[in-house]
Amino acid sequence: MNSNVRPETMERITTPELANAFIDEQIKEIKEQVGDKKVLLALSGGVDSSVVAALLIKAIGKQLVCVHVNHGLLRKGEPEQVIEVFRNQMDANLIYVDAVDRFLDKLAGVAEPEKKRKIIGAEFIRVFEEEARKLDGIEFLAQGTIYPDILESDDGVKAHHNVGGLPEDLQFELVEPVKLLFKDEVRVVGKALGLPDNMVYRQPFPGPGLGVRCLGAITRERLEAVRESDAILREEFAKNGLEGKVWQYFTAVPDFKSVGIDENGKRTFKYPVIIRAINTKDAMSATVENVPFVLLEHITNRITSEVENVNRVLFDLTPKAPATIEWE
Ligand code: XMP
Repeated sequence: MNSNVRPETMERITTPELANAFIDEQIKEIKEQVGDKKVLLALSGGVDSSVVAALLIKAIGKQLVCVHVNHGLLRKGEPEQVIEVFRNQMDANLIYVDAVDRFLDKLAGVAEPEKKRKIIGAEFIRVFEEEARKLDGIEFLAQGTIYPDILESDDGVKAHHNVGGLPEDLQFELVEPVKLLFKDEVRVVGKALGLPDNMVYRQPFPGPGLGVRCLGAITRERLEAVRESDAILREEFAKNGLEGKVWQYFTAVPDFKSVGIDENGKRTFKYPVIIRAINTKDAMSATVENVPFVLLEHITNRITSEVENVNRVLFDLTPKAPATIEWE
């Protein structure tokens, strides 16, 4: 598939049958393009890169080399799930890179949101480049570019997830099997490929991950508070029928403390957790989900009793605009 324009005659993939037909066609095309050469893929565990990985594993098996960079800013359980699904279940060639210390060292003391984003993006490319240089005989780079990425960018290159910043001497031919698909189609294809539901129907997650939710200069202490409170929020939304209904929900932890009191009546001085739950069509504007008050009370109880260094929970009532969805 060389064109970056979706043919008008292309049917929207809405059923397992259509997905299977697409998968068969792509397997043929990938085999033709790649032959017996090796393909490299940055596998974040997000929907797009996971679907591309599953497709390529079906088409060329161990000729695909997946690199999963754990930058320490992923949600609870995500790196483990990537290893379980791709290495253990699909028998993929997966390189797991624990780059947590490296990212957190680079980010230490950096409070400015755009600077944080730039450091995370640049460091990601550096880690990926280092891994790529260790490997021999790679000629192709697979990417989870999807059709909205092409429509939204001038040069047709995905800004957030791609590894387009690789140096001149490390350039590969691209393999982009889902580049003409819309997100809903990618999910149908992912389901047909046997990926787990919590991977396929995952809510949007920013490239810089929890880095934009651990507000201000990132510390390990507050990063853990974001990760643990987010896990509780997701668990409670799933239990109470809000998963798949609410477009995006997460927690953020600011870089200031407030006074509280513990169960023994002793004064505490700890961080607050902010809950955000919004609905939107295109993320350009957003409304706030009317989360039942009793559920908010229950989540507050769980977060204040289970998450360390937290003594207060707030609910963000602000639509977009005037607020953005993320806090940074
Ligand atoms: P905002 O905060 O701008 O977010 O209202 C709109 C949507 O975009 C996501 N988001 C990002 N996604 N890299 C990404 O891949 C980023 O740097 C980034 N910042 C925000 C956000 O989660 C929301 O869905």
